[in-house]
Amino acid sequence: MDNDLTTFADDPSVGEVLITQVEIEARIAELGTQIANDYAGGSPLIVGILKGAVFFISDLVRQIDLPLEVDFMAVSSYGSATRTSGVVRILKDLDIDISGREVLLIEDIVDSGLTLSYLRKTLMARQPASLEVCSLLVRDEREDIDDLVRYIGFRVPPDFVLGYGLDVDQRYRNLRDIRSYRPPVSG
Ligand code: IMP
Ligand code: MG
Repeated sequence: MDNDLTTFADDPSVGEVLITQVEIEARIAELGTQIANDYAGGSPLIVGILKGAVFFISDLVRQIDLPLEVDFMAVSSYGSATRTSGVVRILKDLDIDISGREVLLIEDIVDSGLTLSYLRKTLMARQPASLEVCSLLVRDEREDIDDLVRYIGFRVPPDFVLGYGLDVDQRYRNLRDIRSYRPPVSG
């Protein structure tokens, strides 16, 4: 059956498909297996960063065969719709004490890395046993980010992307594929 409910077919801001729903699903299964192996015998605390990572964490944890726990944090970085300022504020903190815990942070995309650097600093002060990061997306040509992100889903070009949790001004999170964003032409 044709299944294209969330293609946003008539929206000029929604560009080409970069990563399909099927590719996302397959990669998440691989990541889940890898994480389950790396944390075998443990019970990691999987922390999703609201709101973008909700879709990813929800699919990912169901591919990790471990007695894990899930918690969430919400942060806001001041800036425009498509650019972060690096000034991060915690809007919702964790409910669970992370001291002595194996913590795995789940991000939708690490772009400049500023949000992640701030989160890492803040969470390391609480003395977890370990703190690793899994991001669905990182930018091409940012190998410096690889030291920060242990598990990477896909690499994408520097242009803004949307779908599967990623938004532009809160829209497009419900797109099933990851697509490029076509900003309106001004003038
Ligand atoms: P960073 O601090 O520059 O690494 O920005 C990280 C955050 O910016 C992500 O968690 C996203 O919410 C947002 N972001 C960065 N790039 C994109 C994009 O291409 N599409 C949608 N959101 C993005
Ligand atoms: Mg966002």
